[in-house]
Amino acid sequence: MISKPFWRKSAFIFGGTAAWGLVLIGCVMANRTLLVPPQVPGAVFIGSKECAQCHENKTAHFETASHARLALADPKLGDTGCEVCHGPGSLHASSGGLRGTIINPQKSPETCFKCHLDKQAQFSLPNSHQVINGKMSCGDCHEPHVGNAIAGTGVDLEGMNAICTKCHTQQKGPFVYEHAAMKEGCVSCHNPHGSINQKMLVARDANLCLRCHLEASAAGSSGQINANAILHTAENHNSRLMQGTCWSAGCHEQPHGSNASYHLRN
Ligand code: HEC
Ligand code: HEC
Ligand code: HEC
Ligand code: HEC
Ligand code: HEC
Ligand code: HEC
Ligand code: HEC
Repeated sequence: MISKPFWRKSAFIFGGTAAWGLVLIGCVMANRTLLVPPQVPGAVFIGSKECAQCHENKTAHFETASHARLALADPKLGDTGCEVCHGPGSLHASSGGLRGTIINPQKSPETCFKCHLDKQAQFSLPNSHQVINGKMSCGDCHEPHVGNAIAGTGVDLEGMNAICTKCHTQQKGPFVYEHAAMKEGCVSCHNPHGSINQKMLVARDANLCLRCHLEASAAGSSGQINANAILHTAENHNSRLMQGTCWSAGCHEQPHGSNASYHLRN
């Protein structure tokens, strides 16, 4: 799981590029380094107040956004929170919003990678959503302008699943036989950014299911030799697992929920 640092409003001051070197997050564990701010040739930073003139709908609730807690302060401009992601806006504003004068992260994740470099690595894994090539965007799953950047964080896991099921309607259900794991979210089995495992699974093979279903065998009393026998329910599953994974061995083909069987079968 992710650690949830408590963010303080903090400032990072910029003047020349060198001063952007460090994004300070007041008294938290994480320090992210913004190596180079996003750039628009010939443009300079103008501050978020300027954006409000024409994009009231984006600025109105921005103070509730995760990234607003990263206040970028410049004594002359004030807050430049919008331009952290969109790049310096002077040419854009003076041209009245001419195309090609501002960065739109919908088209490329580069601006996000400036601070979230680890995500670039995840999206480069063989099994990942197609964000690097621009077919999908971080904004398809994250909300940059209002509220929490991760939808449904905290209590509302259904909200987080809803992000996924707007595209993946098959997994939405309802199913006659629900798999309770779905209540813990799609991310209990999938890494939404990417994984070395097929289908972006967080673990391979039976290990995926055993994250929740490992039940201690009553080795002492049952005469079992293998104390690690997979004894979900009363049956020793070891021989079945020689046929494949829990879902490919012909036993639980429907990990998301089944309309045919309590055992999540076809
Ligand atoms: C004078 C008015 C004006 C100001 C000031 C302004 N914009 Fe815009 N902006 C526009 C208009 C008009 C469009 C729509 C262009 C279009 O759809 O072709 C636009 C489009 C955009 C887009 C989408 C661009 C794209 O390629 O899809 C972004 C992102 C954006 N603005 C961000 C900002 C930010 C950040 C600021 C403040 C630094 C800002 N704007 C200031 C008028 C403005
Ligand atoms: C964390 C990065 C981030 C910050 C900070 C941010 N944006 Fe955006 N912005 C995005 C992303 C991602 C998109 C594309 C997805 C979307 O439209 O929600 C976007 C899209 C836009 C668009 C184009 C919307 C459209 O309809 O095409 C405008 C305009 C815009 N942002 C303005 C702003 C303004 C004004 C601010 C400051 C109040 C701001 N943004 C702050 C990431 C950011
Ligand atoms: C200026 C640096 C910077 C940029 C640019 C940036 N982020 Fe962030 N982002 C941060 C920091 C700092 C945090 C909080 C620290 C952490 O990662 O735990 C954060 C947190 C997040 C979170 C987690 C929010 C939460 O509630 O835990 C998401 C999701 C996220 N960013 C997505 C994006 C996306 C998508 C973009 C591009 C549109 C983007 N970020 C651009 C610095 C940045
Ligand atoms: C397919 C949906 C999806 C896409 C696309 C996506 N994310 Fe996420 N992201 C999530 C979900 C869901 C979580 C919450 C994960 C959790 O709680 O385990 C998350 C968590 C995060 C976090 C906070 C936790 C962490 O892993 O550090 C950051 C930062 C983040 N995403 C950044 C990004 C960036 C940057 C992009 C684009 C390059 C992106 N995400 C694209 C779904 C997505
Ligand atoms: C904007 C639409 C969209 C959203 C939102 C989305 N996905 Fe996807 N997802 C796709 C597409 C398109 C593919 C196929 C990618 C490909 O062909 O490489 C895919 C592929 C996948 C796969 C792999 C399928 C395979 O056959 O290998 C998994 C697993 C997955 N998504 C899970 C998720 C989860 C979990 C979430 C929510 C955190 C999510 N997706 C959000 C569009 C989306
Ligand atoms: C209990 C673990 C688990 C949970 C929770 C889970 N998945 Fe999966 N998912 C799997 C497994 C295992 C596969 C591989 C199935 C296969 O290869 O036949 C898979 C495959 C997929 C695929 C690829 C298409 C397919 O059926 O093979 C998509 C898309 C997907 N999951 C989306 C989601 C979404 C969206 C959610 C949340 C609503 C979710 N998953 C929750 C285990 C899970
Ligand atoms: C996030 C935790 C979690 C994961 C991961 C998980 N499950 Fe479950 N599963 C549950 C819970 C909770 C139940 C409900 C148990 C109950 O009702 O006693 C359940 C029930 C089941 C059931 C219903 C029958 C029964 O004996 O309870 C089957 C079959 C099942 N899971 C198979 C799988 C398979 C196969 C995988 C791997 C693809 C998997 N589970 C991964 C949490 C999980």
